[in-house]
Formats: sequence, C-alpha cells, structure tokens
Amino acid sequence: MELLELVKNRRDGFVFLPDPVSEETVAEILEIASYAPCRWGGDPVRFIVVRNKELIRQLAASKSMGTGPLAFCNVAIVPMIDLRQSKLWREDLSVVSTYIMLACEERGLGCNWIHMDGRMGPDGSGITATEAMHQLLDIPEGYEVMNILAIGYNRKLQPEAEEVF
Ligand SMILES: Cc1cc2nc3c(=O)[nH]c(=O)nc-3n(C[C@H](O)[C@H](O)[C@H](O)COP(=O)(O)O)c2cc1C
Repeated sequence: MELLELVKNRRDGFVFLPDPVSEETVAEILEIASYAPCRWGGDPVRFIVVRNKELIRQLAASKSMGTGPLAFCNVAIVPMIDLRQSKLWREDLSVVSTYIMLACEERGLGCNWIHMDGRMGPDGSGITATEAMHQLLDIPEGYEVMNILAIGYNRKLQPEAEEVF
C-alpha cells in the first residue's frame, strides 16, 4: 500500500473484533518499530507484549479514565525506553509508537494510542498512571513508559463480522 493511501485511510481503533492477532504479525510490527529513529541512535527501546486479558484489564485500570479501547484489544504493546540511552525519551517513544500504528494499519489492524504519562493513576491510589504500570509490568530500573498501544482487528474493517457484537 502506498504511504499516502495508508495514512489517509488510517483511523484509530476503538472497538476491536475478538479475532486473535498472530505471533507472526506482532513480530513483524515489532521489527518495523525497531527501525524507528531515536535521538542518540542506539537501541534504547524495548517492547512489552501483553496478551493476558486480565493484565490488559489491570493496565486499563492504571489510569482513571480514557482507556476504553483496551477493553476490546487482543494485544497491547508497551514500549519502554532506557533513560540512560535517551534524553528525548518522550519524543523517541512517540516516534516508535507512530511506527507501530502505521505497521498495524498496513496489516489491516486497528491501533489506538492510550496515553499514560502525566495522568492520574487508579482512583484513590495516590500514584500516577505510569507508576501503576511500573508495578504491574515490573518495569526494570532505569526504564520509563509513556503509553500503551491497544491493537486488534477493527470492527469497521470486517463488516461481515458485525453479528459478533
Ligand atoms: C498522543 C495521543 C494520545 C492519545 N491518548 C489517548 C488516550 O489516552 N485514550 C484514548 O482513548 N485515545 C487516545 N488517543 C486517540 C485519540 O483520542 C483519537 O482517537 C485520535 O486522535 C483520532 O484519530 P483518528 O484520526 O485515527 O480517528 C490518543 C492519540 C494520540 C495521538
């Protein structure tokens, strides 16, 4: 698909079909993401792939609001970055996330960016959304997270499967 056509057609996914996203497809997406440029070159980004529905539910609960697409996604990808290798870490994670979104679109997948950085954590917890993510995902010392990419086959892309809902 031409890039112009791809970006014109791309729309965030909010409600995903239950169809699984294969390991092979996730591997392709991560390979594309691994070529994203970053401020100091190098290789500061790692990816956490979450398929466990209960863990995805807990990730959704890590922010007080605005995590709706995680309820339906089949797989969530959390890019994390080594702060010792990146000064412009938010920018680097944003570029990586954009690569993931485009790689998803090329594969007929919906992808929605769930922003966590600077957001409040679970109601009444007194911690931030990213602190909650650190606890849940056991993020290694020195790494930081910013967002979650919620991925699945978009309902709009397969209208013949509407009866699923
Ligand atoms: C930086 C960024 C942060 C976003 N954060 C969230 C979020 O926390 N929760 C959410 O449901 N959607 C989030 N979105 C998705 C947007 O709300 C919205 O779906 C998107 O801008 C519309 O894109 P479309 O052109 O694909 O329809 C975010 C998008 C971007 C680019």
